[in-house]
Amino acid sequence: MAAPAPVFDSPDPSFGDLLAARPGLALDPLAGLMMEEVPLARIAAAVGTPTWVYSAGTLRRRARLLKDALAEAGLDASIHYATKANPALAVVNLLAQEGFGADVVSEGELRAARAAGVPAGSIVFSGVGKTEREMRLAIAEDILQINLESAEEAEMLSALAASLGRKARVALRVNPDVDAKTHAKITTGLSENKFGVPIALAPELYARLCALPGLDPVGLTVHIGSQIAQGVGSYRAAYQRLGQLVRELRAAGLPVQRVDCGGGLGIPYRDEVPGSPAALAGAIKAGLGDLGVKVMLEPGRWIAGPAGVLLSRVIIEKKAATRRFVILDAAMNDLLRPAMYEAWHGILPVAASGFHAPLSPADVVGPVCESSDTFTRGRDLPALPPESLVAILDAGAYGASMSSTYNARPLAAEVMVDGARFAVIRDRQPYEALLAGQRLPDWAG
Ligand code: LLP
Repeated sequence: MAAPAPVFDSPDPSFGDLLAARPGLALDPLAGLMMEEVPLARIAAAVGTPTWVYSAGTLRRRARLLKDALAEAGLDASIHYATKANPALAVVNLLAQEGFGADVVSEGELRAARAAGVPAGSIVFSGVGKTEREMRLAIAEDILQINLESAEEAEMLSALAASLGRKARVALRVNPDVDAKTHAKITTGLSENKFGVPIALAPELYARLCALPGLDPVGLTVHIGSQIAQGVGSYRAAYQRLGQLVRELRAAGLPVQRVDCGGGLGIPYRDEVPGSPAALAGAIKAGLGDLGVKVMLEPGRWIAGPAGVLLSRVIIEKKAATRRFVILDAAMNDLLRPAMYEAWHGILPVAASGFHAPLSPADVVGPVCESSDTFTRGRDLPALPPESLVAILDAGAYGASMSSTYNARPLAAEVMVDGARFAVIRDRQPYEALLAGQRLPDWAG
């Protein structure tokens, strides 16, 4: 199957446009593409490729922009970084230092958040299928809040907490049936999606939660999708509905102290114009501002996406009858988004000369044995002979966290840059680790 080639009605942004929109990156006439003050070529030489490289400065800047927007709107808000976007301990720790809590969806993410220094009292546990073991851990750690997705899950958690002599603080995830107008694979707030409970059933269920012995209901939660890139209209609609629900619940004498507004704010990968943090804060204020609720947010991509690149080396350039294939040492097992969502990612040469050389269309692919292992088709790029370096942009969210070892390819190294320094924050996976833990059955010859 040929890789899908999305059709755009505007020309691709130029290298200059891509750079101008990404303040963590700059071009040095001699050193080539830099992240903050570190040449990416220096990182490739020291750590090898493929390597994920994250800008601490960009993470901090974006964290502060979001905090400031909520504060300027006068919202009493806390931010819980969605660790699924990038659970690297160094990333989660940096955000914890900016005052962010964590939104986790598994025991692994809960452990990562704790290991990164996030206090249990700032952790929210989301997800449509929490195991009993995960619930036990969340109760034992006394985390801030567990987001419930169904009546069945509420019964299960209540019974468990009660058997431990505890009450779990919970929020009810409401499915507002709002179209987030994003890729079908990452939309979550439609009635056909598996997430949350239908808003029409929420009053009855919330009352039931209040009656269960092991639960302490504190509010509502909603998340309508990810990479929401067409303004904030969908958010407005969702928060409006949530606001009405809060009023209805309170009128019935039920306590609602918090509304967790989810994540989803999109970023410009190509030329999208997503809503700004200020516009998001405005949508929250419009729907929930006069209710005196504590607002929570669970952003992932908006914080981490633009902060990272996937640094890769060209293995070979292959000229076929009608196409030019640039074959990288990074592949779909590293960055899955193009194969999975037909996602567009900027690709920049790292050598300064590449920014001024003639361009011609190229298909940029990885070495994995399937045609969906394609980062882009027909992209205007300079000649990229073997050993040239490229940076695949906006790979800080849902990049490393979605990697696999398909084709027995080890997980790539991860590096953090901060000003003029850089540090390896995760070693490249050694080959021994690919085989570790495996054994032949005792009946094997
Ligand atoms: N909260 C909940 C309950 C979520 O399910 C998600 C993401 C978030 C927060 C964070 O959403 P964000 O702010 O990052 O959009 N792998 C896909 C994205 C999947 C998002 C899943 N849920 C991608 O690469 O585009």
